Amino acid sequence: MQTISDLGDLRGKRVLVRSDLNVPLDGTTISDDGRIRASLPTLERLAAAGARVLVTAHLGRPKGTPDPAYSLKPVAQRLGELWGQPVLFAGDTTGDEAHHVAAALQDGQIAVLENVRFNPGETSKDDAERGAFADELAALADVFVSDGFGVVHRKQASVYDVATRLPAAVGGLVQAEVEVLKRLTESPERPYVVVLGGSKVSDKLGVIDNLLEKADTLLIGGGMVFTFLAAQGHGVGSSLLESDQIDVAREYIERAAARGVDLVLPSDVVVAPEFSADAPATTVPADAIPDDQMGLDIGPDASQVFAQHVRDARTVFWNGPMGVFEFAAFAGGTRAVAEALTQTDGLSVVGGGDSAAAVRQLGFADDAFGHISTGGGASLEYLEGKTLPGLAILEEKTS
Ligand code: 3PG
Repeated sequence: MQTISDLGDLRGKRVLVRSDLNVPLDGTTISDDGRIRASLPTLERLAAAGARVLVTAHLGRPKGTPDPAYSLKPVAQRLGELWGQPVLFAGDTTGDEAHHVAAALQDGQIAVLENVRFNPGETSKDDAERGAFADELAALADVFVSDGFGVVHRKQASVYDVATRLPAAVGGLVQAEVEVLKRLTESPERPYVVVLGGSKVSDKLGVIDNLLEKADTLLIGGGMVFTFLAAQGHGVGSSLLESDQIDVAREYIERAAARGVDLVLPSDVVVAPEFSADAPATTVPADAIPDDQMGLDIGPDASQVFAQHVRDARTVFWNGPMGVFEFAAFAGGTRAVAEALTQTDGLSVVGGGDSAAAVRQLGFADDAFGHISTGGGASLEYLEGKTLPGLAILEEKTS
């Protein structure tokens, strides 16, 4: 893949950068600016080289039409605060304002274009419609830099199609992310421990499938644990359950045993009668969840066991919280796993949006981990061995 250095002298050139600035917002307050911080070095580097930097990005999943709740304006402002210089903002993506801002940009300045998903062409499944919008994006710039790692698994106009229309290079963030994920897929130091959480088994099918061939230990927590417990024949009360995935979970348990992969389920669970921050929490054995209770976190014994596996690992990848970490009573499992990741001597990788937000919300510093990925879905799909369109197109261009 071409890198920014291969693009030659960028002074005075308009560089369209696809960043992933999809941050969690509470109204207009950014609750975790990790993705903005992670995107800044590439933008700074381009600005320092004298480029006129136009950033295109999405926020949330608006329906192809402008929606003020998903405006990137607060994000542009935060980017400016972090950079220490004003960042311009265009109130549309490829319309008059965008053209005006692109024309007014000086060497070394950065501008953010309004949410690219306000345009139906961005996410269209129709190649022609997506292509037409990519033409509009390409018309704003001389070169394209793909640096939104969190979206490289999306075949969308600003990720994929625009790369076919302009000289294109991969940005520093995507490069760094891919390097780490390569270490996980190609030559992980062993023991290789993977911790998976989050609510749904169905979101993790591909990755579990693939990791059963690669990992030594698979620790399962989060809401999806109850489908595994049901597969073992246990009652799960009113916990989250994907009934249509019970057979799949059973098959994974059997396959892990046959392949010598240690698939570890929690031995105890923190339960409550309802999903709320102040619901009375109790700990029960995982095989004895009362009918009128729901599991909201892995229990203290399980947390210790999971943490020990993580500390002993030479490589550890973690995706998905162990429980409802947003509520203090159900944050213990996620905290224990996060803490253990900071204590291991091996390579520790936190994969993705929710897990990254969780470690920050629980007060851990980014640099306590080997690597915090900015891509949730993207890092999982990479580990699944899938082709990621945003990377494939850049590889194709240089092959
Ligand atoms: C993410 O939050 O994982 C990325 O920004 C991609 O967002 P999407 O799932 O809405 O495409």
